[in-house]
Amino acid sequence: MPANNAHGSNRPILVIVAGPPAGGKGTISEHLVADIGLYQISTGDLLRDEIARGTEAGDKAMKLMRAGRLVPEGIVNSMVFSKLETAEVRRKGAILDGFPRTESQAAALADYCSNSNWWRVDAYIAIDVPEEVLLERAAGRRIDPVTKLVYHVKFNPPPADIAARLQIREDDQPHRQRRRIATYRENAAPIERVFSNRLVHIDGDQPMHGVYQQFVEKMLVACWGGDSGRKHSTIPAKWNEFLAEEKKKQNASKL
Ligand code: AP5
Repeated sequence: MPANNAHGSNRPILVIVAGPPAGGKGTISEHLVADIGLYQISTGDLLRDEIARGTEAGDKAMKLMRAGRLVPEGIVNSMVFSKLETAEVRRKGAILDGFPRTESQAAALADYCSNSNWWRVDAYIAIDVPEEVLLERAAGRRIDPVTKLVYHVKFNPPPADIAARLQIREDDQPHRQRRRIATYRENAAPIERVFSNRLVHIDGDQPMHGVYQQFVEKMLVACWGGDSGRKHSTIPAKWNEFLAEEKKKQNASKL
């Protein structure tokens, strides 16, 4: 259980995974949930859940999402901040997937953190992927409505026995995907300025394991490297080995 001290080493981890639509944010988040038990806060998933439950927020979001447009931030911000207030998320630490998506959302998050006893952004990791690759990833994406797992017909094929129940997202149609990419590109630089001291870019135009490896390395250095003092026991042993090597390199460069 983290200590109730925002500046102490035991505060929960908060990592932002940023990147264009179909850039691989959800895929990385799924792995981090499995590997170290972080809580994934995906605004897209939260909104799709509101739609499925027929809530007022879901009704407002539905048309905009189908068209590939952003949902009003009043809806999105309160969804994220109320998750961050829960005991489960504070205990596990969080990966923010799909938030913030505008400069104003970024400012609201920075504000929220500066007024919080718990949360500070440890890393803002942006995945870079070229447009033609994004279009191919969106075109082949398939969602399992039962497990919510995400597959790709070519890059991550689903098991044959669930193929018939898989769904295609409406906003993955090429013209909608292009609009979402354009919106992402318009907003990326202003958001990155807000988190410039936590910002790292990784190359997302690689097979999944290569992208994940880069992500983990950047995250480890940001969260457990240097003098953060976090307990390494919370991460898999193979990652401790990487950190030990990093530490050696850092010490050698100081000599
Ligand atoms: P959201 O659901 O967040 O969509 P997105 O950001 O557009 O991201 P995606 O879910 O499309 O992609 P991803 O990066 O997670 O990629 P994935 O891992 O699935 O948001 C949907 C909508 O909700 C928005 O358009 C907006 O309307 C609204 N919304 C959400 N947040 C909002 C906010 N903060 N403010 C306002 N509105 C908001 O991968 C894609 C595919 O590629 C998969 O099939 C996967 O298997 C495959 N793949 C992944 N990595 C690789 C790889 N390295 N190589 C090959 N294939 C790969």
